Amino acid sequence: AIEGDRVLRETICCILGHVDAGKTKLLDCIRHTNVQKGEAGGITQQIGATYVPVEYIKERAKPHEGVVIKVPGLLVIDTPGHESFSNMRSRGMSLCDIAVVVVDIMHGLEKQTVESLALLKDRNVRFIVVLNKVDRLCGWKHCPDAPIKKALENQSGDVKREFGWRLTKVVTQLKENGFNTALYYDNQKFRKVFDIVPTSAISGEGIPDLLLMLVLRSQATMMEKLTFVNTVECTVLEVNDDKDLGTTIDVVLINGVLHKGDQVNVCTKQGPVTTTIRDLLTPHPLKELRVKGIYKHHKELKAAQGVKIVARGLKYAIPGTSLVVVKPGDDLGQSEAKSQRNENEEGNVIQEISRLKTCKEGVYVQASTFGILEAIIEHLNSPGVNVPVSGCNLGPIEKKDVMKASAMLKRKEEYAAILAFNVRVMPEADVLASESGVKIVTADTVYKLVDSFNEHIKRSKE
Ligand code: GTP
Ligand code: MG
Ligand code: NA
Repeated sequence: AIEGDRVLRETICCILGHVDAGKTKLLDCIRHTNVQKGEAGGITQQIGATYVPVEYIKERAKPHEGVVIKVPGLLVIDTPGHESFSNMRSRGMSLCDIAVVVVDIMHGLEKQTVESLALLKDRNVRFIVVLNKVDRLCGWKHCPDAPIKKALENQSGDVKREFGWRLTKVVTQLKENGFNTALYYDNQKFRKVFDIVPTSAISGEGIPDLLLMLVLRSQATMMEKLTFVNTVECTVLEVNDDKDLGTTIDVVLINGVLHKGDQVNVCTKQGPVTTTIRDLLTPHPLKELRVKGIYKHHKELKAAQGVKIVARGLKYAIPGTSLVVVKPGDDLGQSEAKSQRNENEEGNVIQEISRLKTCKEGVYVQASTFGILEAIIEHLNSPGVNVPVSGCNLGPIEKKDVMKASAMLKRKEEYAAILAFNVRVMPEADVLASESGVKIVTADTVYKLVDSFNEHIKRSKE
């Protein structure tokens, strides 16, 4: 995409909102996928990224003729709405150009909506409000994939009235949070007044409008930011232990180009690590990066993209920090200093992680990704739950993990347990656990993990 003498990159857009507002479903409706259905407990527990090419946007936004689209597409970041996952919401927000705040029209603003709005204000991030689930208005007539204005015109007087008062309620709530908003097609002052786009993620009303507004508002207000430059700007989203690929990191390439074979510097819990990119993978367009699938292999990749990087030494990479490319002839110390500095800019991640951690007596936590590990520990430490944590690790449970957890057998027996999320238990580790009396508790959602642990405690006291 070329605009004058500028080359534009894709707009990066982050989806935020309260639990079950319909963030993932909205993306499913855009992608024609079914990611939400496959999620454990119907909740999102990992940050994701999806590439939406411009040709596809043009096709879906066709009902709005005569609009000039300048950006080459969208990179959409999905986030979890559950309280304990504020780390991932904050991460998504800090790397996006524009945000989408999804509100359930039947519920209005909720706790995590308000939390997100406050952060967006703090960070001065532009956003669009999506008023989702319009199909739940009593008597709604489905108009699949129609522009919302047209769909509303098709409704009965009663539906129009219900829509009207629910919209007014949300506008008032947003006003109370310091934002002026209006239905996007009535919004004459979009630089000051935020847009509202009503949608249904089930029948697709308003989806053409949402895609269009993301593109139009971003290209109207942030041309400078969307200009492609040849300097790599790249943020680590997540660290994964993949059965076939080994440790991989999911990153968002915000600007510049990455090549297979590039030397990169990454912040890890054990200090900066310099490593070589062995493989650059992306999911296919309109597929979710966080869902394991068929990847495309690349020799080089141009921003903006969600990328899976295969490289050695990344097990303890810290999500939210920057990845820096080391050029031949670069002073390694310098780029390490640079990535160290990035890390400090990210609000002292190292300190954050040591704070997250642990006390002398507590359970051992093991998870597949760093983000989940953070979220689990956050949840365990929360006032209603109050389960102390003595240690944690990423990846499959090995003998050494069981040994560490078994230290509690002498101190506080009930804490001699490993709370395991989405990780394999190595056979030797399993044997050692049953011999020594360390309980391994597994579950597929953070909340069930705590329930199962509490049940275990109850049983062991009986
Ligand atoms: P978290 O990721 O857990 O924060 O939730 P989410 O915001 O991603 O919501 P999700 O996509 O999981 O949707 C929650 C529920 O609402 C699911 O049962 C969806 O089928 C339903 N839902 C989402 N959007 C709509 C909609 O537009 N209309 C109706 N009727 N149901 C919807
Ligand atoms: Mg979701
Ligand atoms: Na959900």
